[in-house]
Amino acid sequence: MTEARKIVIAKRFEGEPKVTDFRVETERLPALQDGQMLCETRYISVDPYQRLSRIVESRAPGYAAGQYVVGFWGWRDRTVVTLADTGSDILPPMLVPDYGDLPMSLSLGVFGMPGATAYFGLLDICDPKPGETLVVSGAAGAVGSIVGQIARIKGCKVIGIAGSDAKVNWLKEELGFDEAINYKTSDVEKAVAAAAPSGVDAYFDNVGGALSQAVLSNMRPRGRVCLCGSISTYNQESVPTASVAETQVQDRQLRMEWIKMSSRWGRRDVAFAEMAQWIREGKLKYRETVTDGFEKTPQAFVGLMKGENFGKAVVKV
Ligand SMILES: NC(=O)c1ccc[n+]([C@@H]2O[C@H](COP(=O)([O-])OP(=O)(O)OC[C@H]3O[C@@H](n4cnc5c(N)ncnc54)[C@H](OP(=O)(O)O)[C@@H]3O)[C@@H](O)[C@H]2O)c1
Repeated sequence: MTEARKIVIAKRFEGEPKVTDFRVETERLPALQDGQMLCETRYISVDPYQRLSRIVESRAPGYAAGQYVVGFWGWRDRTVVTLADTGSDILPPMLVPDYGDLPMSLSLGVFGMPGATAYFGLLDICDPKPGETLVVSGAAGAVGSIVGQIARIKGCKVIGIAGSDAKVNWLKEELGFDEAINYKTSDVEKAVAAAAPSGVDAYFDNVGGALSQAVLSNMRPRGRVCLCGSISTYNQESVPTASVAETQVQDRQLRMEWIKMSSRWGRRDVAFAEMAQWIREGKLKYRETVTDGFEKTPQAFVGLMKGENFGKAVVKV
């Protein structure tokens, strides 16, 4: 009988999640049945639902012991995965290809869900064209940092919005963003207007709320908006007051679309191959914020909400 640890929510969050809202539990795993495999976690993606695991034992066709696999199985250090359990809206376990000299943890970042979201949200929805101006919020995070760099590759002027001067410097000095704005110390509406005097053609929105309203006020007619996330509202205790995006959408004839990554997942190989090429050519940089130790997963999650991560936040189990 194999023992495993899992992290569960001990107390319903009140506002921002706290480390004390979680606890570690031990569970006993059953012997494998046909169609199942025992997976041992190597990295946890701080999202908080994905993991990168090594298959220890398998009775599941197509998955062999020793291979690495990405799946959506909670915060556990070991788990028995039943292929039939993966459901229609949850992606099936993804076998990790050999990325050569690149770290396998990129399967949770550039070559995983955040990378695919950035790639398809930008190219399918923002539809960037050379010479256009694109704004991305959450710009120093896993999705945002990739979006901004691809938009630069596509010939756009890129303005990033992030929550510290250190992130602003990283975006401009390391990642080549044209402009970057610290939303905690700036009037975002005025700062975007100053950085984009002719207006914004495309906006990739990772944060929602008042910050996004300030960007929408600067959009050019027929601008495109990719709605990706609204992290500024995730920890609000009451339902947010309705915003008035309709005014901007109507006045500027904006096109807004939610990026549903799972419906584009079937095209991921194209995205990962092109991004791997850009990484090897030095055009696309990745950064990981790595927290060591399974039991530190709640700290990493709380830190993500506070903006402590640069690039992709992962836990090395
Ligand atoms: N549509 C999809 O399929 C899909 C897929 C993946 C992710 N998402 C969404 O995309 C967004 C980015 O995800 P990610 O995994 O790349 O996370 P991330 O950007 O790496 O990390 C979250 C970042 O959000 C920022 N943040 C936290 N509170 C904020 C606030 N009140 N206002 C503005 N920024 C705030 C923090 O950076 P600062 O220091 O800049 O505040 C933090 O580092 C999230 O909203 C996520 O839910 C959607």
